[in-house]
Amino acid sequence: MTRLNNSPIGFFDSGVGGVTVFEQLKKLLPNEIYIYFGDTMNMPYGEKTPEQLLAFTKNIFNFFKSKNVKAVVMACNTTSAVVYEKIKDEYPFAIYPIIQPVTKKISQMPVKRIGIFATPATVNSHCYKTEIQKNNPDIDVFEIACPSWVTIVENGEEKTDSARLAVKEKMDEMLKFLPEKIVLGCTHYPYLLDVLSEFAPKDTFINPSVEVADIIKNDLWAKNLLNNQDMEGSEEFYVSANPEKFQKSASIFYEIKSTPALKNFI
Ligand code: DGL
Repeated sequence: MTRLNNSPIGFFDSGVGGVTVFEQLKKLLPNEIYIYFGDTMNMPYGEKTPEQLLAFTKNIFNFFKSKNVKAVVMACNTTSAVVYEKIKDEYPFAIYPIIQPVTKKISQMPVKRIGIFATPATVNSHCYKTEIQKNNPDIDVFEIACPSWVTIVENGEEKTDSARLAVKEKMDEMLKFLPEKIVLGCTHYPYLLDVLSEFAPKDTFINPSVEVADIIKNDLWAKNLLNNQDMEGSEEFYVSANPEKFQKSASIFYEIKSTPALKNFI
């Protein structure tokens, strides 16, 4: 095996959202070396400009480059929608966005009406709608931005009355469109699945993380980038602010054993 195969896989998001993807890939590939970066100082990404998002991503990618990663998972729909196309060929590692691979699968589903919950920046980009209709123009796509949901999740407030109210308001709007499936188009939203399923059956919701992890695993295999599977896996977490809060809020999906290290780029 070359040195590259045994290099780490980077993950990043504005905060705990990407943990929903990390947790899935780690289940499939437990022996890889993982480095996760949560940009908690700059969240929510969904309310930032394309220029800001590009600058954040470049800083994070340079950090991953210094760690000699073999691949980076953009475990963030917002940067997948707004930044991926601009930088996809600029780094010496494989880059995996979330939206583009998963919309191929979604557009093959036998449904005609799909709802998307996502951040304001993702909705403004219409990336989900464009990608789904590129593969299947007969599907109607209805996109709704849910700006308050990310902060609710970062604060670990999923079980509060105000979280229920925030979810109800958007579900009321969504259900008027009569969607057959609803995509959780922000990696933070699966944390709200219990509340969401008070308003529609659980299997209405698509969590792209599950599909994406499978696609990444297959692609790493195809590129001959999987490590020696007899190696012991490891993980390191970094955040740009509030490490304890990150550790606690992420625990719904994944138990992070030691407090993340602080890392920022200013
Ligand atoms: N979790 C990210 C996403 O999937 C970013 C959310 C945010 O910070 O607004 O879009």
